[in-house]
Amino acid sequence: MSTYKERGVMFPGDIVPRSNLELLKTFDIRDDDIMLITYPKTGTWWLHQVIKQILAEQGVKDEKYLGNIPNLIEFTLPVIGPLAEVVKTAPSPRVLATHVPVDFLPPGLLGSKAKIIVLMRNPKDTAVSMFHFSQKRPELPTPESWNSFAQQFLAGDCLWGPFYDHVLGYWKLKDQHNILFLKYEDMKKDLPAEVKKLCSFLEKPLSDEEVQAVAAATQFDSMKNTLGEKGQVFTRKGVIGDWKNYFSDDQSRAYDEQYRERLSNTGLEFQFE
Ligand code: A3P
Repeated sequence: MSTYKERGVMFPGDIVPRSNLELLKTFDIRDDDIMLITYPKTGTWWLHQVIKQILAEQGVKDEKYLGNIPNLIEFTLPVIGPLAEVVKTAPSPRVLATHVPVDFLPPGLLGSKAKIIVLMRNPKDTAVSMFHFSQKRPELPTPESWNSFAQQFLAGDCLWGPFYDHVLGYWKLKDQHNILFLKYEDMKKDLPAEVKKLCSFLEKPLSDEEVQAVAAATQFDSMKNTLGEKGQVFTRKGVIGDWKNYFSDDQSRAYDEQYRERLSNTGLEFQFE
């Protein structure tokens, strides 16, 4: 496990070598690409699956080709590195996903007609989820303890962080670009409503019945049980408010203070329960 910093952002070197960031600078975007943008552990895989189901209801096939890679769900930039050539020749529509902060995006993306969806989650649950994930994955730095991890996340001394720079970097684009912003908590509370938002943004209308089918196929238990190994890796508890099982009062206060400092007057808000 190794990490490095590029323009103030910490990357996991074993997953995203610097050369992969270079690839992003010349990565060609297509107008019919669908680009999912998330800070890690905010429901990336869940959103992937929802989009995949919406497209499947529309008859778009998840074709497996070169190296058995499905075109609809596997393209995580810039993790893709060695597979860049595969991504370039993949059939449309490509569903691409990335965790990079806004400054690292492929330069053509924001000026393109690609559909950009940004998914966010409250920082306390995100931190807890990342803590567990880092403990499980050998390619990520193993946290010494919850206390040290909570402090590092708060200080922005964590992978892909600082969290608020990441989310605000995208939020600032809301008036200039056609981006759909979604929240994990809203998906959790009313998945069919969020599926409908997605369908309308993607211009892929579905009937109420089809929307319900997408929601049923992508709710937590369905995903955990049907996605095999990947389902096991990317699902854990899948709830809002698990942070309460980890945060001390002092930690919670420090996070709340930072929340107020960074988000007041931005119009961006998160739900914590
Ligand atoms: P927890 O660790 O809090 O359970 P990512 O895909 O960005 O790595 O995000 C992983 C988080 O999304 C995990 O959070 C995981 O359990 C949660 N998740 C995945 N699928 C979900 C679903 N269908 N419903 C709710 N949460 C889901």
